[in-house]
Amino acid sequence: MPGSNPRFLDKAKGLDADQVFLDLEDSVAPIAKPEARGTVVKALNAGGWGEKVRVVRVNDWTTEWTYRDVIEVVEGAGSNLDCVMLPKVQTAEQVVALDVLLTQIEKTVGLDVGRIGIEAQIENALGLINVDAIATASPRMETIVFGPADFMASINMKSLVVGEQPPGYDVGDAYHYILMRILMAARAHDLQAIDGPYLQIRDVDGFKRVSGRSAALGFDGKWVLHPDQIAVANEAYSPLQGDYDHAENILDAHEHYTSAEGGATGAVMLGDEMIDEASRKMALVVSAKGRAAGMTRTDVWNPPAEEA
Ligand code: GLV
Ligand code: MG
Repeated sequence: MPGSNPRFLDKAKGLDADQVFLDLEDSVAPIAKPEARGTVVKALNAGGWGEKVRVVRVNDWTTEWTYRDVIEVVEGAGSNLDCVMLPKVQTAEQVVALDVLLTQIEKTVGLDVGRIGIEAQIENALGLINVDAIATASPRMETIVFGPADFMASINMKSLVVGEQPPGYDVGDAYHYILMRILMAARAHDLQAIDGPYLQIRDVDGFKRVSGRSAALGFDGKWVLHPDQIAVANEAYSPLQGDYDHAENILDAHEHYTSAEGGATGAVMLGDEMIDEASRKMALVVSAKGRAAGMTRTDVWNPPAEEA
């Protein structure tokens, strides 16, 4: 949500999104940035955000705005803020710089040191090359976010449509390497991997197609720019009902068969499928996503009667 628009900020409170970010960067015009800082502070302190993760995106360190963004927002509303999003991150040092500044402000105004997290946007070639070092630059790091629009511009991709394949590229997914590189860094260092925006906000089918790709790879979520994208995103990054039921059943069956009463067996048949410890690990992922999304089971496995 543009930090310069109090009406949008207020509207965001009622939306079914897990996180909201109040923007001071590219959705705010340069001359409106100083005033937007105050608008963002007011909106955070007014409350009403429920369980949403509250994030402010500051400007990147190559601009003249970053330090004042951080100081005004964290001094003014630090206790009502969960994360700072740093855009166009290129090096680990840029994350460290934000960490140091946050620590000074937290000490000055009496906030818990280290509570406010950092989300790093990867939006150019240097950032992607350094993504491992960026991921581990600070214990505040929580999330790596792909910024497709800036990324496309920074690598001279021959397209103006964010998230869609560049015209002329007909041999796969032009974003596959970038998404996988970000996902590997996130998983290696136990961070969230978040896909960026889809700008054709009236094309809900297009949003569904594109979010389905990063969701399939294992991304945890995607930005939404419009209320119409929210339900589609929530569905895309949650398991299908059948997969959720199946995952919970694998967990139950595995627990039963590996126990003494179930025969202390590591690899067993569940229906027509052989399951073992690796199946349990895969099931844990799907189950965790389903539980986080508030899903409930519609099909519950029980041990066969003769064994029970
Ligand atoms: C988001 O910031 C993007 O550049 O896609
Ligand atoms: Mg960007």
